[in-house]
Amino acid sequence: MSQIVGKPLYSREFHLWHRRLTRALATSIFTPFQPASAKHFGVQSTSHFSDLTPGGLTLALYNEKVIDHYQNPRNVGEIESADALGVAENSACGDILHLYLKIDGDRIVRASFKSFGCAAAIAAGSVLTEMVTDRTLEEMKAITKQAVDDALGGLSPMKVHCSVLAEDAARAALDDYHSRNPLHPTAINNI
Ligand code: FES
Repeated sequence: MSQIVGKPLYSREFHLWHRRLTRALATSIFTPFQPASAKHFGVQSTSHFSDLTPGGLTLALYNEKVIDHYQNPRNVGEIESADALGVAENSACGDILHLYLKIDGDRIVRASFKSFGCAAAIAAGSVLTEMVTDRTLEEMKAITKQAVDDALGGLSPMKVHCSVLAEDAARAALDDYHSRNPLHPTAINNI
């Protein structure tokens, strides 16, 4: 086996970053959300490099609210025979969010989500389920990426785009519901 001698392959900065990354993974910051089964992938962190940088574990990028939703995501999983399903994907990073809604008349009585994404995407999906539950469809239309960002206490500029995933999933769920119920008043008002 050949051996490389001479100049170190990696810089000291890279070495320190790699050591932090290894320690973070070892302390399972990124492991509690592995899928329990293929059917219930729940939330799965993709541990983006944007979450882990040479500057250190960038959980420092996240406020307590975001970390709480990331570590204790609310309303995870599918709703069987959901009345609406919104699927959103960020084509740049590949993160995915599925939003499930149970709707009674004009009101969202239950919401859940599944995500394969960065910490902010998971937090955004979690907070979105809280934001839409017990809201009317008309009120749900007003949910924007800014509202999601505000509900999370403000994402860092590097992560603010992750709230777009939540807005897109909410829009997609509304579109899905309207396509299934074209005569619903909120669908008619959309025309
Ligand atoms: Fe892709 Fe956050 S980095 S949604």
